Amino acid sequence: MTRQKEEEFQVADMPNLSGYVTIVTGGNSGIGYETTLQLANRGARVYIASRSKTRVDAAIKAMKTGNSGLDIHFLKLDLQDLQSIKTTTEEFSQKEPRLDILINNAGIMACPYELTKDGYELQWQTNFLGHHAFTMCLLPLLRSAAQSSHSRDRVRIVNVSSDAAISMGPDSINYKDPNLTDVKGVTAPWKRYGHSKQASIIAAKAITDRYKALGITAYSLHPGLIKSNLQSHDTSFLGMLSRTAMRIFPTLSPLDGARTSLYCATSPNTPSFAGRYFTPFGKVGTKENKWLDDAKCVDRLWTLATSQLRDHGFVIDDNAGK
Ligand SMILES: NC(=O)c1ccc[n+]([C@@H]2O[C@H](COP(=O)([O-])OP(=O)(O)OC[C@H]3O[C@@H](n4cnc5c(N)ncnc54)[C@H](OP(=O)(O)O)[C@@H]3O)[C@@H](O)[C@H]2O)c1
Repeated sequence: MTRQKEEEFQVADMPNLSGYVTIVTGGNSGIGYETTLQLANRGARVYIASRSKTRVDAAIKAMKTGNSGLDIHFLKLDLQDLQSIKTTTEEFSQKEPRLDILINNAGIMACPYELTKDGYELQWQTNFLGHHAFTMCLLPLLRSAAQSSHSRDRVRIVNVSSDAAISMGPDSINYKDPNLTDVKGVTAPWKRYGHSKQASIIAAKAITDRYKALGITAYSLHPGLIKSNLQSHDTSFLGMLSRTAMRIFPTLSPLDGARTSLYCATSPNTPSFAGRYFTPFGKVGTKENKWLDDAKCVDRLWTLATSQLRDHGFVIDDNAGK
């Protein structure tokens, strides 16, 4: 084993998480499945927030095969329906008075252009805006976990992004046309994917800038190129191509894919890099992070997301962390 490998974060490095309440979106499949299982193995209560109860129940059953005592639950979440996200968080707050870790992991990749009923492009809403809405609605519970915790670093939000966001170049959000309506050609679905993932990277920095004083920090990351079920329900030609590619080319396992999320969520080393973008397995990229120091870029994204959510009746308190 090389020296660099020895320094990489391993699942065995995770601390005990008894007493933690956590949510993993899309925790029934791929990277999210392993993220959920490892958090639960360390004693955390984990809610899998995902759209299909059948698929989540099957995943929980499989996870509990090795250990029936794991504390894992289903939480219905459809990121493509903004109003339902409010219902999800209301339902969650009736079950739990706090939330220690939120891992925004669910995602779709390179699907054909389509708008949600809320009027946003599918990938923009699923990968970014829906998660941002979910995070904003959960802030009171994250805040109460931070207030009742002895550690300043316990409460964390993790946005699972992708290097596809980085390949677009710095500060590439299209503020005039966030749905990328005018982008055409065969690569357009991939561009929309990278675009939505770049927004999730900037959002983690914006959230940290605003809520760090309350004890809430956020991180973003690339999980690696991971064999997974991405696009398993997409019946289009593009979906078939993406699905085949995700099963042939990646060499890393979903457990490897979970490592950087788990590092950001639980390591005592990460809070000194709060708001930053991480690469496998727990490295802070310097090049990628330079543009997150551009306050104007971060503020522009925050303003866009806030305005899109306010248009749908969300209440965002810009000053909560000040
Ligand atoms: N695999 C890679 O190489 C790779 C590389 C870079 C980034 N990523 C990112 O890693 C994350 C996890 O991906 P994965 O590879 O593990 O894929 P996956 O196995 O397909 O998992 C995606 C999860 O997201 C859920 N989901 C999709 N749409 C949703 C919606 N509208 N509402 C709620 N949940 C929804 C899926 O639920 P269903 O089971 O109901 O579909 C599934 O649980 C994604 O954000 C992806 O973009 C992956």
